[in-house]
Amino acid sequence: MAEDSNAKVTVPALRAKKACGQKITALTAYDFPTARVVDEAGVDLILVGDSLGMVVLGYENTVPVTMEEMLHHTRAVTRAVRRALVVGDMPYFSFHLSKEETIRNASRFLKEAGAGAVKVEGAGPKRLKLIEAMVEAEIPVLGHVGLTPQSIHHLGRFKVRGKCREEAHHILEGALSLERAGCFAVVLECIPRELARAVTERLRVPTIGIGAGPHCDGQILVFHDLAGFTTGYLPKFVKKYLDLRKLLGRAVGDYARDVRSGAFPEDAHSFHLPEADRKALPSWLRTGKKRP
Ligand code: KIV
Repeated sequence: MAEDSNAKVTVPALRAKKACGQKITALTAYDFPTARVVDEAGVDLILVGDSLGMVVLGYENTVPVTMEEMLHHTRAVTRAVRRALVVGDMPYFSFHLSKEETIRNASRFLKEAGAGAVKVEGAGPKRLKLIEAMVEAEIPVLGHVGLTPQSIHHLGRFKVRGKCREEAHHILEGALSLERAGCFAVVLECIPRELARAVTERLRVPTIGIGAGPHCDGQILVFHDLAGFTTGYLPKFVKKYLDLRKLLGRAVGDYARDVRSGAFPEDAHSFHLPEADRKALPSWLRTGKKRP
């Protein structure tokens, strides 16, 4: 398939990538400048993940994140993006009560925030019915199985899922049922690479892995982890491409030192009155009125 690198990435284009054996690239972004960088670098899918709760809002986990917070950040991202498919992550309890509420919330990502799809965690029977209803309402849905961070209170802690027969079988069945429910792709989070490979081989829709090894159809990471801008714990599956936190810390320290010493601002950072007006300044300040 000849790739037009400027063409807008669509749901069918992502599915076609799997058919052609081309890897899908994906990253999170939560704000305008980051989304612009990620989009201009040619990443296919930008997820406004509810991880923003932990990464940029300082919550302990993703459970407190609200629809309004998600929409606010999704709008900032879609304003910046020209090419990538933007996916809004449905926060905890935005898709739990009824079909009507789920569709209303999902549609807000498309209608009010300009996203092209939504992501939903989990694959239980009730969840599948809701996903079917969203797909029926023309809302493209990205599924998510394996470690599902919104289940933190149920799970107790974040850990690799699918390491025993029962869980591995459950994850494969979950991914297959998400495909049957109409998901255009499925995120596999924190599962053994052998299991991710088997799931990827069984699914017709693409898998996008995070901590799921190299055999998925695509990969996603949290932008701040990749950039070394994360404040807390960094999972084993992250490759840090930059130490942004260190670089920024150094730059801010240099700025503070320059302010204290008077080295900043220099003349080049200052505005001047024209020579002729400089002498007049004291009288301007005295009367504020033009002399007759
Ligand atoms: O919220 C998020 O950022 C995610 C990705 C890690 C897949 O769900």
